[in-house]
Amino acid sequence: TVEGRVNALLAKMTLEEKVGQLNQYNGNWEATGPVSQVGDKIAAVKAGRVGAVLNIMGTAHVKAFQDAAMQSRLKIPLLFGQDVIHGYSITFPIPLAQAASWDVEAIERAERVAAIESAASGINWTFSPMVDIARDPRWGRVMEGAGEDPFLGSKIAVARVKGFQGKGLGAPDAIMACAKHFVAYGAAIGGRDYNSVDMSLHSLWETYLPPFYAAQQAGVATFMNSFNDLNGIPASGSSYLQRDILKGKWNFKGFIVSDWGSIGEMVSHGYVKDNYEAAAVAIQAGSDMDMESGSYIGHLQQLVADKKVDVRLIDDAVRRILTKKFELGLFENPYRFIDAQREQTLLYTPENLAVAREVARKSIVLLKNDQHLLPITPGKSIGLIGPLVKAKKELKGFWSLNVNPGEDIPSLMDGLQAQLPDAQLLYARGCGITDSSRAGFDEAVTVARQSDVVIMAVGEAPDMTGEAKSRSSIHLPGIQEELVKAIVATGKPVVLVLMAGRPIVFDWASEHVPTIVYAWWLGSQGGNAMADVLLGKYNPSAKLPMTFPRSEGQIPIYYNHYSTGRPPASDTDRFYKSAYTDLLNSPRYAFGHGLSYTSFAYSDLKWEITGKENIKVSFQVKNTGGYAGEETSQLYIHNIVSRPLRPVKELKGFKKVFLQPGETKAVTIVFTKEELCSYNEKLEKVVLPVACQIMIGSASDDIRLQTATINNIFSEPL
Ligand code: IFM
Repeated sequence: TVEGRVNALLAKMTLEEKVGQLNQYNGNWEATGPVSQVGDKIAAVKAGRVGAVLNIMGTAHVKAFQDAAMQSRLKIPLLFGQDVIHGYSITFPIPLAQAASWDVEAIERAERVAAIESAASGINWTFSPMVDIARDPRWGRVMEGAGEDPFLGSKIAVARVKGFQGKGLGAPDAIMACAKHFVAYGAAIGGRDYNSVDMSLHSLWETYLPPFYAAQQAGVATFMNSFNDLNGIPASGSSYLQRDILKGKWNFKGFIVSDWGSIGEMVSHGYVKDNYEAAAVAIQAGSDMDMESGSYIGHLQQLVADKKVDVRLIDDAVRRILTKKFELGLFENPYRFIDAQREQTLLYTPENLAVAREVARKSIVLLKNDQHLLPITPGKSIGLIGPLVKAKKELKGFWSLNVNPGEDIPSLMDGLQAQLPDAQLLYARGCGITDSSRAGFDEAVTVARQSDVVIMAVGEAPDMTGEAKSRSSIHLPGIQEELVKAIVATGKPVVLVLMAGRPIVFDWASEHVPTIVYAWWLGSQGGNAMADVLLGKYNPSAKLPMTFPRSEGQIPIYYNHYSTGRPPASDTDRFYKSAYTDLLNSPRYAFGHGLSYTSFAYSDLKWEITGKENIKVSFQVKNTGGYAGEETSQLYIHNIVSRPLRPVKELKGFKKVFLQPGETKAVTIVFTKEELCSYNEKLEKVVLPVACQIMIGSASDDIRLQTATINNIFSEPL
């Protein structure tokens, strides 16, 4: 058995070798190249003082490091970790964009491709998925997650884990997934990266833990802890999080890696006085592997000698790591992922590029189409204006790997030109993303005047959203909104395409531009996917996974809030109500919002309890417009009375249904008793006695059907 083999190996290991397994080094250097550190790190691997490396890519470099591990006394293979966040060689849309597809099968397929490619390149572990709930778009890392909702986030977490881990860790194209960042990193105060988190345990359990639990249930191999402190305790030093919840209550058998340097950063937090103490606190708290802080390799042996750390804690961590190495099959063949031939054949294939295009177009959200300008009918002269019209490699967004430096990503302009070979596309840049000069405005206005329709592409720069990329202003940067005003003033019909990694604020445009498309960062097939949507080759079906605020003053803003004692009756009802005197309460675009070129009508809502544990909800959806299209129907519970309080609305199910014009389909959504559970005052997971309604909508603010009040599904009366 794996357990027997792990124990046999453990029995042969010196304490130094055991501690070595808990040490992860960054290898962001050429393994074979002339970087001064290489010699030292390779020597450490040969000495059995390293268990895993990160940022070594490509079979040649991976092999050089594994060769060194094979020269160590016990020949324990290394793990090769990498941030495969949205694709490897082929870049997929940023995770937040993928989440907008609400298409868990498509997301799983995207991660399958990412796993196939990275495994072929020698990687056996990704630091993904990031399953942090995020309700603050100022936080730069919103781009890596699935948005604000624990239900949607949990379904996507499962899809990503399944995609990466495929048929199981022994398969040649499976890589270990890593649910991160455990936990509550997304709730950094003020949206400032790495900041403290102060949160009730109720919120923690209700909102922030569920996607992690879902990942654990789906068999995720590893977890990563987080940089933040939570209620006064840095996550890397929290035994409540790691020992009580993850390894205790949830019975997680994999291992926990620290975030980069986070064990050592407990010194800066002021939680410990030095790295010696940091190592003791972290191992006691359940952090198994130290990424890059050097605290474990530097101090654990001494801590054992000083009787400050029980060697059984180290043994447990080593066991967890070795178990994964055995499960991956690395002891049978440490080079099993390292095959230059496979790498050549499997990277960047046309079939996988087609998957990237499919996922990209599913991720594009049609926010507005007031005058039905879209899809653009052929034969029109099109003016393309804005700093992102010709963006190519920028479409990869943050956290994408440069493993294909020769890649030629089609820009929006390329995508349109490819599908409209005879069309004359006029172009003017207008301004840069952060420019303050209007020097290009006149040319842009001239182009607009010469065109039948104008497509503008504006937004963020790709490195404005990501790790350490928090922003206090999330407005459209520079003078881009001024450019939009100048073009709208020509009276020409304008389609606005926005590209960004987060929800941004574009208030004037929202009110004055009739047609708005949110295109995030779509990756390797970005331009083609945008053209597919703009020209009607694909009818958009994406829905926002995160609320778009009207201004930063509304943040944090999310659909699943409580009612309060003074809820405004309308957006303008402010008199001693829970409202802003200078701003509406409603968001600019609500969670779940996203339009189609067609329209859908809903009818015939029914619900019943089936068996003991399931609630079955059924209804009809009809395509009432002129285009075939896919609707993403959403099921919410509207809580009317509940103790403790429940949010006004909670997503509990969704289904995508494809309909031809005029076609009607019956849709069934089943949700479980387990999914209906929430936490009582004692933090016990129960079905609260609530009075509620089941709602079916096209968005959280576009409810089409609702039941009468239901008292107590599965529970005792209030
Ligand atoms: O995986 C990441 C993590 O999300 C942020 N810090 C660095 C890690 C490794 O690159």
